[in-house]
Amino acid sequence: MSKYTVNVNGTQKTVDVNPDTPLLWVLRDHLNLVGTKFGCGIGQCGACTVHIDGQPTRACLTPISKIGQSRVTTIEGLHPSGEHPLQKVWQELDVPQCGYCQAGQIMTAAALLKKNPRPTDAEIDAELAGNLCRCGTYLRIRTGIHRAAE
Ligand code: FES
Repeated sequence: MSKYTVNVNGTQKTVDVNPDTPLLWVLRDHLNLVGTKFGCGIGQCGACTVHIDGQPTRACLTPISKIGQSRVTTIEGLHPSGEHPLQKVWQELDVPQCGYCQAGQIMTAAALLKKNPRPTDAEIDAELAGNLCRCGTYLRIRTGIHRAAE
């Protein structure tokens, strides 16, 4: 076990874990930030997407020992007011079905809108291709991103 202090949602948090512990489990099991979901654990589904220094990143593949001074942002800290425009639109349009993948979808979408405030359908599809939704909410996700971009 080793002690790591990481910046999560703007707050310094210290955990005592094995160096290879994935960030996903630090967030969920040690910091009680359970909005970040475990889907596949092998980087294939996107359910665990968080931002590290603003970049969408798979928390299941990121060992705590690699975080260093980087800023980690989870769905809980995505927006200072507590509700990112995407989260507002997600509710207005009833985007989620079961909801399990949606935090990851929103984290990837938020990073997209930051670098590309008016993405096309093709750009949305390309950026979110790694975020799987077994309910097939892809069209509502796309509509939601366009709405949030308005
Ligand atoms: Fe990390 Fe699926 S749980 S990509």
